[in-house]
Amino acid sequence: MEKIRVELGERSYDIFIGRGLLKDIGKTIRTFGFSDKIALISNPTVYGFYGKEVSEKIKASDHDLLEVLIPDGEEYKSLADTEKIYEALLKAKLDRKSSLIALGGGVIGDITGFAAATYMRGIDFIQVPTTLLAQVDSSVGGKTGVNHPLGKNMIGAFWQPRLVWIDTATLDTLPRREFLSGLGEVIKYGVIWDEKFFAYLETNRDKILRLDPTALTYVIRRSCEIKAEVVSKDERESGLRAILNYGHTIGHAIETITGYKKYLHGEAVAIGMHLEARLSEQLGLIDKGNVLRIKTLIDSYDLPSAMPDMIVMNELVEKMQIDKKTVAGKLHFMLPEKVGSVRIYSEVTAKDIMKLAG
Ligand SMILES: NC(=O)c1ccc[n+]([C@@H]2O[C@H](COP(=O)([O-])OP(=O)(O)OC[C@H]3O[C@@H](n4cnc5c(N)ncnc54)[C@H](O)[C@@H]3O)[C@@H](O)[C@H]2O)c1
Repeated sequence: MEKIRVELGERSYDIFIGRGLLKDIGKTIRTFGFSDKIALISNPTVYGFYGKEVSEKIKASDHDLLEVLIPDGEEYKSLADTEKIYEALLKAKLDRKSSLIALGGGVIGDITGFAAATYMRGIDFIQVPTTLLAQVDSSVGGKTGVNHPLGKNMIGAFWQPRLVWIDTATLDTLPRREFLSGLGEVIKYGVIWDEKFFAYLETNRDKILRLDPTALTYVIRRSCEIKAEVVSKDERESGLRAILNYGHTIGHAIETITGYKKYLHGEAVAIGMHLEARLSEQLGLIDKGNVLRIKTLIDSYDLPSAMPDMIVMNELVEKMQIDKKTVAGKLHFMLPEKVGSVRIYSEVTAKDIMKLAG
């Protein structure tokens, strides 16, 4: 089992990674001193695979367990569904010392974290992420929240989990496309932070794609280490943490324009990473060779890298201007200078973006 510390003063916590960890969840929450009353939040899909095992283990460690299932889908990451969670917790008389467990992907992790942040002014929660994206990204760092009809992730709070418990065996049941999408975020860590990790992804593609346990654990561990390091230095995104948004400015715009239907998050980020690398090249910040290296790795993991035909360029610019990552109407981008290093660039014009169309 691997252990990574997220250093955040009194809010510090550990991430554990290993194959088969779910069977030890009961003992672990006992050891970590979680309260007797616990609510497990999941969805029917994930619960169908892992819910029974997790419930049994928690009950076997003498915890009083409430189960709350919300339907599967991004549209249920909402205030209405958060209220359903509150209602269940109140009816079962969970109090300020009770804890929540998020068993699922990023949707379950985000809504559970938000419920934990707000229920009785904040209670403990544990992340048990079951998608690759949640394991390498959303379960770490304390961004929690729900969607609003006027925008994704618009309602939320910074609220750190007390523990992140990653069982890599849960990826065995994850649909292939969801797995590849998670690799989009993994590639991002290589580009923004660690050339050696990027090279590892280049060399070990076949092992990673066949879910070789050693390679997979390494990929998840290194991704979590990088995220933990960035978040430790800038928990609330007042500076450094923004580098995690590489690929996301264009990625989010593409997701919005396509109504969150055509691309999974990591796929849109993959296109965003390639286009933002090209933007960087256009501005003279990165050379052709590095851009090609980024594109080649994205392609080799069967992720999309090309701008979809249907995207109208000026609609893209418009969407990016209303994106919450822009300040005072200027377009801010995290642009790579080479593989392993990225910088903020605040002077991107609409014209620069339009040139990407060619
Ligand atoms: N908080 C953050 O820092 C952060 C970062 C990135 C993304 N996010 C959020 O994460 C969400 C996306 O997360 P996601 O990609 O994990 O999607 P998801 O939670 O919707 O999960 C994808 C699908 O896989 C299913 N699933 C999950 N685990 C499974 C397993 N082990 N076996 C079989 N099926 C399984 C789910 O039921 C779902 O149908 C978005 O809402 C996004 O905004 C948050």
